Amino acid sequence: MSGTLVIAGLGPGDEGLVTPEVRAALDMATDIVGYIPYVARIAPRAGLTLHPSDNRVELDRARQALAMAAAGRRVVVVSSGDPGVFAMASAVFEALEAGPVEWRALEIRVLPGITAMLAAAAAAGAPLGHDFCAINLSDNLKPWALIEKRLRLAAEADFAMAFYNPRSASRPEGFARTLQVLREACDDARPVLFARAVSTAEQVLRIVPLTECRPEMADMRTLVIVGNSATRVIETPRGPILYTPRSA
Ligand SMILES: C[S@@+](CC[C@H](N)C(=O)[O-])C[C@H]1O[C@@H](n2cnc3c(N)ncnc32)[C@H](O)[C@@H]1O
Repeated sequence: MSGTLVIAGLGPGDEGLVTPEVRAALDMATDIVGYIPYVARIAPRAGLTLHPSDNRVELDRARQALAMAAAGRRVVVVSSGDPGVFAMASAVFEALEAGPVEWRALEIRVLPGITAMLAAAAAAGAPLGHDFCAINLSDNLKPWALIEKRLRLAAEADFAMAFYNPRSASRPEGFARTLQVLREACDDARPVLFARAVSTAEQVLRIVPLTECRPEMADMRTLVIVGNSATRVIETPRGPILYTPRSA
């Protein structure tokens, strides 16, 4: 099979944060497959076909990409951030595992990108400077009970935590419940970062103590980072810096 499949991360939004490796793969592509707003970031050009699709059809999209690569196309599946973080790389491998055995002969490469958690942390300082974990708060693909168990255990283990997909119009209760669990497991002053639209012109960073957090502070363009018990804020004339010491 002469076709190829690349699964690439476009980073959090700023074109300067797209890696040269990803840019080169995009320049070589005949077909780009992905969720509508991510495909919209790719400039049209002669010889390139764009295949935008809805967010809820990840496996269909993965099968479509594999089938086109098997037919000889140079396909790039795009995700925001990193494609292996709550994104398309796993969906492609799930489709590969369940698909025709010939697909396994394809050249498939995963190209990393800067995930939202790392872009948000860098914008605010260094809140992930010690042990941390990342949790997807969406219960679209897993039961809420599992999310809550992981959240509670991570808080009790004193990890700093990064939350993806914190709150959507169709899931308004989950993040309110998340804040309740955190209030039971963490001290009142625990700093929480709400980082919205990081690295874009609409970027907003807010750092508030846990007691002042309200569910409406998060939406689907927000990445939330909860510090560990040693995370603190340095006030400066240029704004607050959030960091976790290397020793805690
Ligand atoms: C389906 S996940 C995809 C994550 C992506 N693969 C990554 O590595 O960043 C989407 C979630 O990522 C977070 N996110 C993505 N881009 C962001 C940005 N520029 N600023 C803040 N959060 C972002 C939000 O929590 C959003 O709900």
